[in-house]
Amino acid sequence: MATLGLIGSGHIGGTLARLAVDVGLEVVLSNSRGPQTLSDLVAELGPRARAATPAQAAAAGDWVVVTIPVGAIGTVPRDPLAGKTVIDTGNYYAPRDGTIPELEAQEITDSELLQRYLAEAHVVKAFNNIHYPHLKALPRPVAAADRTALPIAGNHPAAKQQATELLSLLGYDAVDVGPLTESWRSQLGTPVFCAPYALTKDDQYRTQPAAPASAVEVRAALAAARR
Ligand SMILES: NC(=O)c1ccc[n+]([C@@H]2O[C@H](COP(=O)([O-])OP(=O)(O)OC[C@H]3O[C@@H](n4cnc5c(N)ncnc54)[C@H](OP(=O)(O)O)[C@@H]3O)[C@@H](O)[C@H]2O)c1
Repeated sequence: MATLGLIGSGHIGGTLARLAVDVGLEVVLSNSRGPQTLSDLVAELGPRARAATPAQAAAAGDWVVVTIPVGAIGTVPRDPLAGKTVIDTGNYYAPRDGTIPELEAQEITDSELLQRYLAEAHVVKAFNNIHYPHLKALPRPVAAADRTALPIAGNHPAAKQQATELLSLLGYDAVDVGPLTESWRSQLGTPVFCAPYALTKDDQYRTQPAAPASAVEVRAALAAARR
């Protein structure tokens, strides 16, 4: 059975864990405070879920999702992630993450920062542009007319393929944005950021029910992004 490793088990990590166990994947959850602090979530998720340290979750995962504040990426265990596909859900947000000058200057993207830190891993940006209740609500089977698409970006074609397979298993299509240099197109404040997945398709997304967004809509929103 394939395993999804999670470094970070909050809103997005916990939601991805739920989607993964629902389609039969094993999940290994982790956070900064220790596996014992995840016992309620593990119990809720059932027998396919367990909690471990970040290094153990990294070692166990066929895919590993890093879903923590961007300011904490320097704590992610590097060695067990070498050669693996690492899915990055992060969005740089200075009031939470602290000011990171290279990101403020737009010299690199937040996912390039993670890729530089995890030099031996293959980072793919995904799941960063959808509000977590909408992520939970929108999975649909392959070829469903109302299947939703999410952008992915990455430098390694095989890793992007592996990420696309994970998205598909979890109920989503993928739209390839290009390399990590292009991942700014889905960052906070861009047209594809969260709004397309809410009923009103606008910046009120937090208070709105989920609504599907097709690959055509997502491509158009990505193309409309201005830096
Ligand atoms: N919320 C959303 O709808 C949403 C949507 C898309 C993308 N994002 C982005 O995805 C990332 C996660 O967001 P979130 O809303 O899921 O955050 P969250 O609910 O605050 O959860 C963060 C998780 O990361 C863990 N964590 C923090 N520092 C860690 C470290 N050094 N090592 C391991 N685990 C650590 C936290 O555990 P502890 O209890 O140990 O602190 C918690 O489980 C952020 O970059 C966010 O901007 C969020």
